[in-house]
Amino acid sequence: MAKKLRVGVIGVGGIAHTHLPGWKASEHAEVVAGSDVVPDALKQWGEAQGVTQLATDPQELFDDPDIDIIDVCTPNNYHAPLSIAALNAGKHVICEKPLAPSPALVRDMIAARDGSGKLLMTAQHFRFESHSKAMKEEIDEGALGDIYHARSWMLRRGGAPTGAGFIQKRHSGGGPCIDIGVHILDLTLWFMGNPQPRTVTGVARAGLAHLPGAFTGWGRAAIPEEFDVEDFASAFVRFDNGATLVIEVSWLLHHDTMGEDMQMWLYGTKAGSHWPKLEVYEANNDTRQYYNRSLKLRPSTIEAHAQECVEFAQAIVNGAPSPVPPEESLQVMQILDGIYQSQESGREFVIE
Ligand SMILES: NC(=O)c1ccc[n+]([C@@H]2O[C@H](COP(=O)([O-])OP(=O)(O)OC[C@H]3O[C@@H](n4cnc5c(N)ncnc54)[C@H](O)[C@@H]3O)[C@@H](O)[C@H]2O)c1
Repeated sequence: MAKKLRVGVIGVGGIAHTHLPGWKASEHAEVVAGSDVVPDALKQWGEAQGVTQLATDPQELFDDPDIDIIDVCTPNNYHAPLSIAALNAGKHVICEKPLAPSPALVRDMIAARDGSGKLLMTAQHFRFESHSKAMKEEIDEGALGDIYHARSWMLRRGGAPTGAGFIQKRHSGGGPCIDIGVHILDLTLWFMGNPQPRTVTGVARAGLAHLPGAFTGWGRAAIPEEFDVEDFASAFVRFDNGATLVIEVSWLLHHDTMGEDMQMWLYGTKAGSHWPKLEVYEANNDTRQYYNRSLKLRPSTIEAHAQECVEFAQAIVNGAPSPVPPEESLQVMQILDGIYQSQESGREFVIE
């Protein structure tokens, strides 16, 4: 059997733990090294995972010719510099979402990818869930016809994080747009066939986070004063192919359900659909009847955060394209950046 690809993980916090089962399940890759700016956290992680090559300076991983893949799991604002350094050192890179908090930085990452000839993938795990795969297959077979409109939202009644990596712009680049907007937007654009966004009219505001006594449902903790990002955003987007999208995202709003309300409605010339209900809605113009049908779900044996790592290693070995190409993450960031720009100007933002 060929030598396994050797993986170095940078940022050994919460999300890195969800990748590890994927690297363990992969027949093509294994984790051999880790890096983090917090030495104690790194040491603990190394002991728990049986990984002995540990470095607080990620350059040590980049300089190691035996490391093939860098898995970037740090807060958002470190994704671009770390990924670019890794690509320049000749490593394949899988990087957590958002790839970078601005379109300009995503372009820099694409340029580094082009210069290196290696693969760069955004860890958009929702694409690797069984529900998403079933819906994508149905759409790719043409079941919806031309998709001309989408309605998507990802709303949390009381789901604001409190860590600096999420709520301080200098670490995160933004609030729920950047944190969870990337999930529902990436999935929606992927289902729509990644049309190029052209204009964005949006708002991004903190309606609840700064009210006296504001708290998050997670541990009923107070919202820290340093919260300087939006807690709600909404937008209307036009695409080059004439399609449109309405999107809403929030970490905090007076909604009916606790937890996460994540939904997507797609409207096409042949049918409409709902994700994650996996339903398709059609009409027969000859019989003047309406039909609803449910899609079959093939349950996965592995969690989506792990499956994305398995498929990344597989793509490298097969010489296949990146399972989530950065060009598609650029479209996501163009829309999110457009929301912030439109909020700032009070006008529609045109993506150049
Ligand atoms: N796909 C998902 O569902 C999902 C869920 C949560 C978080 N994320 C993403 O994962 C990333 C990390 O989030 P998390 O929840 O794991 O955060 P976390 O705070 O739990 O972990 C981040 C780790 O990175 C380390 N770190 C910080 N700056 C660093 C640097 N410059 N170099 C090396 N290490 C550094 C921290 O010490 C910490 O151990 C974020 O980009 C976030 O958007 C994705």
